[in-house]
Amino acid sequence: MQGVTIPKHIAIIMDGNGRWAKKRMLPRSVGHKFGMERMVSLMEHAFDLGVEHITVYALSTENLQRPKDELEALFDLIRKNYREYLMPICQRGVRVRSVGNIALLPEDVQKILRDTEAETSQYEKKSINIAVCYGARDEIIRAVNSAVERGEKVTEKSFSSLLYTKDVPDPDLIIRTGKEVRLSNFLLYQAAYAELYFSKKMFPAFSDKDLDKAIVDFSLRTRRFGKTDEQL
Ligand code: FPP
Repeated sequence: MQGVTIPKHIAIIMDGNGRWAKKRMLPRSVGHKFGMERMVSLMEHAFDLGVEHITVYALSTENLQRPKDELEALFDLIRKNYREYLMPICQRGVRVRSVGNIALLPEDVQKILRDTEAETSQYEKKSINIAVCYGARDEIIRAVNSAVERGEKVTEKSFSSLLYTKDVPDPDLIIRTGKEVRLSNFLLYQAAYAELYFSKKMFPAFSDKDLDKAIVDFSLRTRRFGKTDEQL
């Protein structure tokens, strides 16, 4: 994509797997499976374009209240496909991190997430951040409490270092699929200057071309970070 400014960090709220499946009379779990495959292809495409960091919202703390069979289906996807799908991307020099309170997950699932992190920890420049058991309010409150426990006054920089995303720059572009126009407790602190893009497409139908469209839209925006046009 010549002449297009590629965001360094893209975050995606992968919404609409359930509705995509329902429309096709398929179980929600099938929607999640297609969603996971789409997620991996989008990641490959984004890294090809020059994106350096990708954060995806795979499971919120609130999602943990979903029916047990749906949660089990999501955990099974991690058990069966997580390493197999992500490792080929990581071999291009991409580190995988879990972002969230993974202690809430079954032990074996936690282990897969931890092992994948450990196996890719030598890669520093690019990253995939999988938000699981993630909630932005929970993240912020934990950060505040850990500063209080240390008896420290925080600065913007030190506060960022207390967040789950401490090693990743703030997202430049946040994409939400699935028609809804809200952030749903995702990266609320980090999103301060992110450009937001909403797509009506359900996540399993959000194609590489749709990602290109979102990036072109991003590239046409003027990011002033509070300054005037003349100061830029
Ligand atoms: C929201 O859509 C999506 C989720 C809660 C799960 C997202 C998970 C994936 C895309 C794949 C799995 C990835 C990993 C790493 C486990 P929804 O189901 O709420 O859709 P709906 O709003 O149409 O019901």
